[in-house]
Amino acid sequence: MNDPHAHTLLPRHVAIIMDGNGRWAKLRKLPRTAGHQAGVTAVRKTVEHCLRRGIEVLTLFAFSSENWRRPPEEVSVLMRLFQLTLEREAQKLHENDIRLQVIGDLTAFPGDLQRCISEVQHLTQANRRMTLAVAANYGGRWDIVQAAKALARQVERGTLTSEEIDESLFASHLSLADLPEPDLFIRTGGELRISNFLLWQLAYTEFYFSDVLWPDFDEAELDRALAEYARRERRFGHTSEQLEIKLASSA
Ligand code: IPE
Ligand code: IPE
Ligand code: MG
Repeated sequence: MNDPHAHTLLPRHVAIIMDGNGRWAKLRKLPRTAGHQAGVTAVRKTVEHCLRRGIEVLTLFAFSSENWRRPPEEVSVLMRLFQLTLEREAQKLHENDIRLQVIGDLTAFPGDLQRCISEVQHLTQANRRMTLAVAANYGGRWDIVQAAKALARQVERGTLTSEEIDESLFASHLSLADLPEPDLFIRTGGELRISNFLLWQLAYTEFYFSDVLWPDFDEAELDRALAEYARRERRFGHTSEQLEIKLASSA
């Protein structure tokens, strides 16, 4: 199990771009915000399904660093919904032994929301059954730049030399550093792009794109993604034959 590249049939870490709330609402002639509301219900159900399946880490993209470009009314509804959901679900997360970790540049959020995030993180920090990472004001490029800055500061202070910087030291300064890398990436809503989600961390992740709009994402669709994942051969640069030999010798 120490081999970070050991392929298990169940992903340890699933990362999801929850896309399609706006289109879901439009189809029903509802305001986009009704789609976000319905999206929260899908989040709750997805957390429950992942718990039942034994997923160790679930990362959800809730708000990207580019989503500030949306109409201010929509942005403020998203903020309010995020805070309301955290307040409402904190106790349930805790009872289910789920640790909450919010990743992204939180300094841009209202003070109330920042406090709420740190309270729920503090409450749940010792929980071990599952980690729920929520990416909020997150951007993959921001993540890489903040890691570079942290290393640069150490070099300036004289506690690190540039020669000592390697991939694993760099990775240890990124968001989610203490967690296994995402095994399975899911994007709902039919778009085939990363939209500045985890750039570094997705280097060897298996991708699954679904046309299902996020509010309609359910257990059956999650199971389809998991079944597809189980069929994939993760080679990490090796040949198929090498993997068969490795498998035979470990059996
Ligand atoms: C994803 O749904 C939710 C957020 C980005 C917050 P969208 O709001 O992007 O829905 P579509 O893509 O417009 O349908
Ligand atoms: C990505 O969805 C961000 C989240 C789901 C939070 P977007 O809907 O913002 O992505 P683009 O704009 O279509 O690339
Ligand atoms: Mg979208």
